[in-house]
Amino acid sequence: MSIKEIIHQMTLDEKIAMCSGNDMWHTEPMERLGIPRSMVSDGPHGLRKQPGKDSGDNLGILYAVKAVCFPAACATASSFDRELMHQMGQILGAECRAEDVSVLLGPAVNIKRSPLCGRNFEYLSEDPYVTGELAAAYINGVQSQGVGTSIKHFAVNNQETARMSSSSNVDERTLREIYFPGFETAIKKAQPWTVMCSYNKINGIYASENKWLLHDILRKEWGFEGYVMSDWGAVRNRVKGLLAGLDLDMPTSVKGVNDNVIKAAINDGTLSEKVLDESVERILKIVLRYEAEKKKDADKGKAYVFDYDADHRKAAEIAKQCMVLLKNEDVLPLKKEEKVAFIGGFAKSPRYQGGGSSHINSYQVISALSLAAEYGDVIYAEGFPADADYMDEELFEEALHTAEKAEKIVIFAGLPDVFESEGYDRSHMRLPACQNVLIEKIAELGKPVIIVLHNGSPVELPWVNRVQGILEAYLCGEAVGEAEMDILYGKVNPSGRLAETFPKRLEDNPSYLHFAGKSKEVNYTEGVFMGYRYYDSKNMEVLFPFGFGLSYTTFSYSNLVIDKQDETGRTGVRVCVDVTNTGPMAGKEIVQLYVSDKTESTIRPIQELKQFSAVYLEPGESKTVILELDERAFAWYDEELHDWYAADGTYKISIGKSSRHMELTGYVELSDGRKKLPIIDENVMLGDLLECEKAKEYIEEKLFPYVNRVTNGNSLSECDEMIKSFVYYMPLSSLRNFSTMTNEIIAEIVKELQEIQKEL
Ligand code: BGC
Repeated sequence: MSIKEIIHQMTLDEKIAMCSGNDMWHTEPMERLGIPRSMVSDGPHGLRKQPGKDSGDNLGILYAVKAVCFPAACATASSFDRELMHQMGQILGAECRAEDVSVLLGPAVNIKRSPLCGRNFEYLSEDPYVTGELAAAYINGVQSQGVGTSIKHFAVNNQETARMSSSSNVDERTLREIYFPGFETAIKKAQPWTVMCSYNKINGIYASENKWLLHDILRKEWGFEGYVMSDWGAVRNRVKGLLAGLDLDMPTSVKGVNDNVIKAAINDGTLSEKVLDESVERILKIVLRYEAEKKKDADKGKAYVFDYDADHRKAAEIAKQCMVLLKNEDVLPLKKEEKVAFIGGFAKSPRYQGGGSSHINSYQVISALSLAAEYGDVIYAEGFPADADYMDEELFEEALHTAEKAEKIVIFAGLPDVFESEGYDRSHMRLPACQNVLIEKIAELGKPVIIVLHNGSPVELPWVNRVQGILEAYLCGEAVGEAEMDILYGKVNPSGRLAETFPKRLEDNPSYLHFAGKSKEVNYTEGVFMGYRYYDSKNMEVLFPFGFGLSYTTFSYSNLVIDKQDETGRTGVRVCVDVTNTGPMAGKEIVQLYVSDKTESTIRPIQELKQFSAVYLEPGESKTVILELDERAFAWYDEELHDWYAADGTYKISIGKSSRHMELTGYVELSDGRKKLPIIDENVMLGDLLECEKAKEYIEEKLFPYVNRVTNGNSLSECDEMIKSFVYYMPLSSLRNFSTMTNEIIAEIVKELQEIQKEL
């Protein structure tokens, strides 16, 4: 039976029931029509499957089946590696198949607007390009296994404070350039089966009832083909939601309250049954698509098994490619024969995932300390606990005593669980005081000190200049200890790069004054100047810049070649660069490409990341890295045009190791782009008209006589700066006050110029 036929056979009640969950995690089954109960589960960095019909929670507190906990997005984003994301997606997809989960609730692609957002650990980056590219790779990976994803939280959900009722107030250009591309790219490149709308309002309208967002942008502009589900409890007005394009209300609407609302609206004509049918169709397509995938594999005799050990090993491999070496003054890697003190509760009980809906009931957590004996001569003291900010003089004494006995000291520090989580935001960017105090005390011993950080978002590092090594482990999943030990002891060369800036102080962050809003109005006044776009444009000192990360080897860059695909550059630009491993160890380099707009067509960030590539090189090996740029890579979103716009002119292309360290630069000229014409009405600026080459003749004849009266008969070029500026910035209508210009003549000029413009 086709989906249309199924819908035809459904009663109104059945259609309504199909549009909300059957329970916490399932869609509605309808046996007589062959519609199964289809399960969705969190996501994003492991499977949080809660079995049992009437149980489960969206806060990650109640029981979930054991699963492998992979590195969280804060860590995987640091890999800057599409292939790695794809692999992780494939593994998660296969786990879903083994557990009969049809849709994995992820990836989460909200932009890290402030380091304080409690859920940053689940999000990828402050940069929309990295976010979109990595999300698309992950989705393609999961979905290659015949399982859907739910990209979330659409959109502009960048804080936890009042997340269910606040309004993110953002101008359209900023939405298009910063907060949408993560979703847009993923939808265009990977077509996720579902999208999860966010709790918050966008410019005053709940995401769950925002037609512009869910229909005009998501479906019409970007071509999304799946269904939209609500975040858990995000539906306010069910009818408005359906009209806007929100298909599935999750979880179940308890006691069928919303079902009754839908029925009443259909009965009184405020909602047409056709709208309901469309939502049912979109939901059924996905539910049945999953069934078809299962059948296809069953026919081939293919069965999925959740192989915990194998997947744990893969989680370790991934973790090793995510950690970021932030500082190394010749203290790493550690040598087997060195006596090393491990200090800090995180050595024994690492923090490796965040709290809330993504919380995995982990299969097997491996700490660095548990492996220490296999790697070297390690002694240990707790110093401070991993789960609280607790100053204990005895623990300090013992730690100092242990540190004194060692040649090098590795301090395992980080944020305890309660410091950052889904549900609330941080109020500061500090590590627990007990950790900062002990780190300072140990640094005073004058021995090499290395800090390993476990956190989901940047922290202030007041002792940064008094320690010799820093490894950012982020929240790297259950195999965290294996990755840490391999990197600390040099079995693996660190290759992670920061997908977010570490500012020196919280106050430096561009959203600082407005985060997290008052009276539930959150004004994104920093606009497109988000993350490094702000710090770099202001040339502000930061602790560690976006894209930064060290390696145990060195890389050199040469032969930058920039080729336009056609004369204009509009069909694409290909950038090639040779990268050579000039150091002693094999390693992976992340080649980053930044574009700077030199056309001055508007105010833009000084540079923006527009391509990147991960390249693995043996010592002495060279590879040519090819980076493709499309026209969008040069464009900004023009609210007047309601479209992307890349002016004709020069663009700088820089190849760098971070947003603050460029290795090579070159230039490219774009031409033959769309001409931007001024809006012509009676208040058009004379300067805009005088610059309008194509209407020159007309303007000289018609307008100049009036302008001459203002300039006292002198040509503009002869006038001094003040007169020139006065004329340039003067609206056409102002000539009424300074010349014999009349309203009739103004109207005539406007009309004729509009005609000329039409012909351009
Ligand atoms: C979270 C979502 C999650 C859902 C189901 C919500 O509270 O915001 O990310 O997928 O719960 O657990």
